[in-house]
Amino acid sequence: MEADRLNSPSTSVITFEVLGHQLQFSQDPNSQHLGTTVWDTSMVFAKFLEKNCRKGRFCQSKLKGKRVIELGAGCGVAGFGMTLLGCDVVSTDQIEVVPLLRRNVERNTSRIVQMNANSDSFGSIKVAELDWGNEDHIKAVAPPFDYVIGTDVVYAEHLVEPLLQTIIALSGPKTTIMLGHEIRSTSVHEQMLQTWKNIFDVKLVPKAKMDSKYQHPSIQLFLMGLKSPAVTAEKAECAISTEKLEETARDIDPQVNEVEPCKTDQDEENRGSSSLVDDLALTRLPDGELSEWEARRYGSMAARLLRDVKIT
Ligand SMILES: C[S@@+](CC[C@H](N)C(=O)[O-])C[C@H]1O[C@@H](n2cnc3c(N)ncnc32)[C@H](O)[C@@H]1O
Repeated sequence: MEADRLNSPSTSVITFEVLGHQLQFSQDPNSQHLGTTVWDTSMVFAKFLEKNCRKGRFCQSKLKGKRVIELGAGCGVAGFGMTLLGCDVVSTDQIEVVPLLRRNVERNTSRIVQMNANSDSFGSIKVAELDWGNEDHIKAVAPPFDYVIGTDVVYAEHLVEPLLQTIIALSGPKTTIMLGHEIRSTSVHEQMLQTWKNIFDVKLVPKAKMDSKYQHPSIQLFLMGLKSPAVTAEKAECAISTEKLEETARDIDPQVNEVEPCKTDQDEENRGSSSLVDDLALTRLPDGELSEWEARRYGSMAARLLRDVKIT
């Protein structure tokens, strides 16, 4: 994982300004777990909330008191963004990630409470273990939620079904599902999207709605709702099997230090030119310095190039 990220392996704390708050997220990019790194899509998500919080469905008056669950929260950036807008958030992940997630949530909550005497706009956030597909975990968080959110949680074929079942189990007819995704394999991405479209009404967030800096051509945000309240987990299973994801998406093996999870040779060919061109399209600041965000994206591009370099 280290090669893909400029903040790795030495960056143990990410400082991230969102909605007027200096948040700090501890991370451990050297761990063998994907959830202990802050992923770029979570930052894009939080900055999207910031950009759209003045009017429309993401303004504080509309979000105040809404129940939100974040799946695969990792260090907890996206869910914390919803809390800053007044939501009551349950931030969840696998048991191995929970201690770091809890530390990040507690640290940022106490900073905000200390620094803002009037922290009325701040909602609430708690942490829970939730393994996708685990019925006891799902029951324990008391669905349905107003929002089910997740960033960079769709990265391996075997996760598609338990994630989908879990989202459906946590949703009611009025639930909005917000997923952020960095495309690493166009074919797998498209087929997964088709699977979502069988179950949900899917809307892609236009780039113009995203923060002008915290966006990237390979990062997409989706807003979705169940097509019909009658959609059941059974139908979801059906949607997955009939869809037949042709591409064998390679799972991210936590033992392997790389981040491109679902690549095939064909994907490489399809994607190589466009994604690298997209990455190179990042421009420098007028003074020639790279912003932190740009540095992260260049790191990602460098990792893709380096992966093909064979040292003899
Ligand atoms: C690539 S990380 C993204 C973390 C975080 N959302 C972010 O954007 O920084 C994927 C996350 O999904 C979680 N995850 C993977 N499989 C899971 C499962 N079966 N149940 C619950 N969480 C899972 C991992 O623990 C990890 O935190």
